[in-house]
Amino acid sequence: MNKGKVDVLLGLQWGDEGKGKVVDVLTPKYDVVARFQGGPNAGHTLEFEGQKYVLRSIPSGIFQGGKVNIIGNGVVLAPDLFMDEAKALEASGHDLHARLHISKKAHLIMPTHRVLDAAYEAQKGKDKVGTTGKGIGPTYTDKVSRNGLRVGDILENFEEKYAKAKARHLNIINSIASNLDEEQRFALNNQLTTLHKVEKKWLEGVEYLRQFPIVDSEHELNNLLKSDKSVLCEGAQGTMLDVDFGSYPFVTSSNTICAGACTGLGIGPNKIGEVYGIMKAYCTRVGAGPFPTELFDETGKTIRDLGHEYGAVTGRERRCGWIDLVALRYSIMVNGVTQLIMMKSDVLDGFDTIKACVAYKQNGTQIDYFPYNIEEGIEPVYEELPGWKTDMTKFTSEDQFPKEFSDYIAFLEKQLETPIKIISIGPDRDQTIVRK
Ligand code: GDP
Ligand code: IMO
Ligand code: MG
Repeated sequence: MNKGKVDVLLGLQWGDEGKGKVVDVLTPKYDVVARFQGGPNAGHTLEFEGQKYVLRSIPSGIFQGGKVNIIGNGVVLAPDLFMDEAKALEASGHDLHARLHISKKAHLIMPTHRVLDAAYEAQKGKDKVGTTGKGIGPTYTDKVSRNGLRVGDILENFEEKYAKAKARHLNIINSIASNLDEEQRFALNNQLTTLHKVEKKWLEGVEYLRQFPIVDSEHELNNLLKSDKSVLCEGAQGTMLDVDFGSYPFVTSSNTICAGACTGLGIGPNKIGEVYGIMKAYCTRVGAGPFPTELFDETGKTIRDLGHEYGAVTGRERRCGWIDLVALRYSIMVNGVTQLIMMKSDVLDGFDTIKACVAYKQNGTQIDYFPYNIEEGIEPVYEELPGWKTDMTKFTSEDQFPKEFSDYIAFLEKQLETPIKIISIGPDRDQTIVRK
């Protein structure tokens, strides 16, 4: 932690690395926690004192004392889902009203953005991205095409702006629908038939939003930094889902990488301190798109079962595979990662041997860099390491690590040329080992 600086924690794989858990663990060291991109496509899980919470739009720093948490301008916010999330936290004794600040410049996800999300997916047919259906892509599209509605818009002439944006969306939806087959059109029409109900709750959500401080978060954050406060930024999704550097077009619609913290919060790059890169000891992916180390065999199934690899937002099965060091080296490079955090090593506790992908064979030629196209002709080259065959879930210090596990860490650090500073050995806040 650096005073007057912004440390950034972000996922290096295809999301769900365990960001929520670690942000919660690190929060006591910081004054402020901020989300800078993504929206309710995220599902960040935290566990402590026998309770489990899944956060979507609210930063994971909300449970540790009275810290200020900020939803930055780079986030896309669905008022109805936000209301559900905040009310559930309130009901469990966590009142957020004074300490959760929302940027005026964050864009609003409208009910019709979700219908558009479904319409675009239907239009893509077999090439669909497998989105979370939360309207993320259409909302960011409206932002970039200068048609979006922002949180600040709810403060003035909102009804008029909303009606105009909705009419525009309905035109697009109708035009897409006219080219869909009957079954797809039927599904879309169903969403349109219930739109008024969704809209009613969404407008309640807009009223609910007004109870929170709606702020110029770029000013607030830079003033905090001037007075030597420390800020932790919480990324959503992962680098392989970044709209520029991920496995395009099977990505999300925001910059999930470290640079996204600058644009998503209004912070200069010289204010960035540590960049924590978080990865699982293996790899998972939800939705469609290439995944070079994916396992289709019993081992993949075992990882899924032991790691409870089912989506926190959609409940979908997560695809599982071995750790991909080629992709990780690329992620570390584009983010400027200064230290690594390894999650879920406990899932591999019982394995005889562990594989790690150290290079790819691309159409027969071995390469050690992440290429433009990983959709076809990529074959992982593995190194196999001995497993540690030890239940580590109750360990409290790295001194207890079996030799094989210490060797595995040393191997990864050498391959990735970056130190691994934190190891997570279970979902609970307490199952976290900070290395010396
Ligand atoms: P996020 O989106 O990056 O915050 O990650 P998710 O919450 O979607 O997925 C991570 C899942 O792994 C959650 O169910 C966590 O409770 C769980 N988890 C986090 N760290 C560990 C760990 O070290 N071991 C195990 N077994 N589970 C973990
Ligand atoms: P967290 O923050 C894993 C995936 C979707 C889909 C693609 C695009 O919990 O790690 P979108 O709805 O964003 O347009 O979907 O991105 N995806 C995630 N996968 N974790 C996430 O978030 C994700 N957010 C989006 O499955 O493949
Ligand atoms: Mg998640």
